[in-house]
Amino acid sequence: SKKAVLGPLVGAVDQGTSSTRFLVFNSRTAELLSHHQVEIKQEFPREGWVEQDPKEILHSVYECIEKTCEKLGQLNIGISNIKAIGVSNQRETTVVWDKITGEPLYNAVVWLDLRTQSTVESLSKRIPGNNNFVKSKTGLPLSTYFSAVKLRWLLDNVRKVQKAIEEKRALFGTIDSWLIWSLTGGVNGGVHCTDVTNASRTIDSWLIWSLTGGVNGGVHCTDVTNASRTMLFNIHSLEWDKQLCEFFGIPMEILPHVRSSSEIYGLMKAGALEGVPISGCLGDQSAALVGQMCFQIGQAKNTYGTGCFLLCNTGHKCVFSDHGLLTTVAYKLGRDKPVYYALEGSVAIAGAVIRWLRDNLGIIKTSEEIEKLAKEVGTSYGCYFVPAFSGLYAPYWEPSARGIICGLTQFTNKCHIAFAALEAVCFQTREILDAMNRDCGIPLSHLQVDGGMTSNKILMQLQADILYIPVVKPLMPETTALGAAMAAGAAEGVDVWSLEPEDLSTVTMERFEPQINAEESEIRYSTWKKAVMKSMGWVT
Ligand code: G3P
Repeated sequence: SKKAVLGPLVGAVDQGTSSTRFLVFNSRTAELLSHHQVEIKQEFPREGWVEQDPKEILHSVYECIEKTCEKLGQLNIGISNIKAIGVSNQRETTVVWDKITGEPLYNAVVWLDLRTQSTVESLSKRIPGNNNFVKSKTGLPLSTYFSAVKLRWLLDNVRKVQKAIEEKRALFGTIDSWLIWSLTGGVNGGVHCTDVTNASRTIDSWLIWSLTGGVNGGVHCTDVTNASRTMLFNIHSLEWDKQLCEFFGIPMEILPHVRSSSEIYGLMKAGALEGVPISGCLGDQSAALVGQMCFQIGQAKNTYGTGCFLLCNTGHKCVFSDHGLLTTVAYKLGRDKPVYYALEGSVAIAGAVIRWLRDNLGIIKTSEEIEKLAKEVGTSYGCYFVPAFSGLYAPYWEPSARGIICGLTQFTNKCHIAFAALEAVCFQTREILDAMNRDCGIPLSHLQVDGGMTSNKILMQLQADILYIPVVKPLMPETTALGAAMAAGAAEGVDVWSLEPEDLSTVTMERFEPQINAEESEIRYSTWKKAVMKSMGWVT
């Protein structure tokens, strides 16, 4: 029975672009015991702009925690067994808030947002020294994708942000920082408590409240993986880079403290899990790499979420790509542990294209219906869908691209478009896998996958066909949350999870073998590339 093997439990927040989840794992077996998920709104105030409400995000986290704890109660599992919490999050999304009131000063500017296209253009004209200034320090191309330019936009355009900076009230953070600051107390940081012997007196409460943070209780921190996505972080020295901050005009005092991905940052200040340490923090793609146990050089995973991200562990070495991939911090699992890097192929739109078909075109009512439509036809009949809604990321880095659906005839119906949308996700993965193979020299023999979309069997089979290598997926698909939970459980002072690479042998996998021949696969792929070329240059 569950009780017999119940070890200490670890919770994980998985705050993605489309939804928030809280999941609880048994640290002894990595079994997922309970979880809850809430969808998050996205706002599109103008063409190319994407925003979210930081408070909605925070409330969704509390809601998921409370509901998951209720579900555990129904299973007769005591929540006092939860010994630590990890946080994994959508990366780059930028929040600025007031540390005195706790109020966000503007909506979160989401990673997909394109408003900074002109900022990027003008910045790229004045890059000091050689063109490699940003890339050599950060591993990233100068792009709308990363936080520094979003923060620059907020500083230039939002009066409240400017005022808070002048008055030294502003804090900047990616979603991890915003959540950890808020969950560890925010403006009400101090833990207000006493014990029975002191109940009639007051000085202990005052001391504990002050020592645990007082009015400035929220812990303002981030981890190395999230920091590496801001374009302000030097991935070699693992510190905020003064020159980069000067280049982007960012005051360094608003930046969070950078910590490792596995250490105690602070304690939960409220809710069902009050007092539980938050001791793991990783950008969601790094968390998935850990959750897929890709601890060896050359091991890679591809996560199908809102976007799609293929990361390959390159060990302690920063490998720079010649084929449009990013160099990023993979993880650093403890203050005294070494840092690991990854090469990353980032695709902006994957699951988001299904949401678009649901919310904008209305051809499906639920995301799951896409599989049924695609199955009805089993082909796109020459229809190609390039979902370049936010320009194209890897390997093109082309902000001028916009989405197109082409190859239409009077025969084309919604099923073909649904199929083409799924195929687009697979083709985009093929492009980044090709780039990865060229940069690494040793081609991947199979692709480890995870994320919400991997429950779609048509997609998985298509992916194997288009890559012409097997696609392998763990039966427990919540690898992002698992990675965050592992980091939290392994933190010094928590020590309920040991990170053993051989754990992989216990994970049950589902395998999809390529079923079409390589020639057929190549023909489809080269037509896709033609469609991609047509998607470029729409915005000048
Ligand atoms: O870089 C953006 C990425 O972290 C978003 O992840 O899961 O929301 O697609 P997801």
